[in-house]
Amino acid sequence: MSLLDDVAQIKEEALQQIGQADSLASLDALRVRYLGRKGSVTSILKGLKDLTLEERKAAGAAANQCRIVIEQQLGEAQQRLAPPKRQAIFDPTLPGTPQRIGVVHILNQVIHEMCHTFYGMGFEAAYGQDVETDYYNFEALNFEPDHPARDTMDTFFVEGGRLLRTHTTPVQARELEKRKPPMKIIMPGRCFRHEAISSRAHVSFHQVDGFLVDEGVTMGDLKGALVAFCRAFFGEGLKLQFRPSYFPFTEPSAEVDIQCFLCRGKGCQLCKYTGWLEILGCGMIDPAVLEKAGHDPEKYTGYAFGIGVERIAMLKYKINDIRLFFNNDIRFLRQFV
Ligand code: DAH
Repeated sequence: MSLLDDVAQIKEEALQQIGQADSLASLDALRVRYLGRKGSVTSILKGLKDLTLEERKAAGAAANQCRIVIEQQLGEAQQRLAPPKRQAIFDPTLPGTPQRIGVVHILNQVIHEMCHTFYGMGFEAAYGQDVETDYYNFEALNFEPDHPARDTMDTFFVEGGRLLRTHTTPVQARELEKRKPPMKIIMPGRCFRHEAISSRAHVSFHQVDGFLVDEGVTMGDLKGALVAFCRAFFGEGLKLQFRPSYFPFTEPSAEVDIQCFLCRGKGCQLCKYTGWLEILGCGMIDPAVLEKAGHDPEKYTGYAFGIGVERIAMLKYKINDIRLFFNNDIRFLRQFV
């Protein structure tokens, strides 16, 4: 038998077996048997070197053609035997992919609640800016350049002598300049102080300031507004206590304590057994502040107050670490849906 006959026989046998193959594994075995390193077609190709040039040409062409045909048939058989592609099936009975629904951050919830209580009393909102000038943060509020009260509000300075505001009271100074009485404004916003971060203090926090300027405004009006706010926020029937205090921009000044809403004044851990919780600073706007903004302090008087948002949120929701507001831990934030 000539080599050409061998090739023809191998081809016929291979094609027949490929045609009968019933699994991908048997196709693999056939590929090895015919085209593998020791396969029959490969052996013929290897043996060509022992032939004469004439024979080599004819047998080489036949063997190569045989290899190509077998490869082609193996490819087609593979397609035939490959498992069908899975169809994407929509199964309405499978549970859906859960979507996490966001919630308004607890601090924003508290700010909204505070503002809405004051809107109900006729206040409107103003916002100012986080980066302030020394003038509005301090001087317009009666903190003279070397006044020791500045030491209570160490801050961060940025280029051009500007600073990150230490309270939202500068918005009062700005609004006083822009408007004519009567003015009744609530001013929520972010503040900054250069403080060591601890469970009670942070470099960034929030306040809601408010003020009213008109003819004949008295401390009685201030008390009325604050009592109404505390009732709305902490609940009915709690007493307020005004303690004399000092702020450069109010005269007289007071700090306000609310009767502890947990023990209702009896004394507990939350109020450190005093029965009272300190919640805000306030007072009658200092005539010098009104005058700097161009208002006649003989004609107009006003009250002002400033409330720490984290402070009252921590009291109301019994949160014991201010850092929890800023860590973005979903386990904490999710509690306030
Ligand atoms: N700005 C003050 C502070 O951050 C709080 C404050 C007290 C604001 C009295 C006021 C006020 O408007 O009248 O400590």
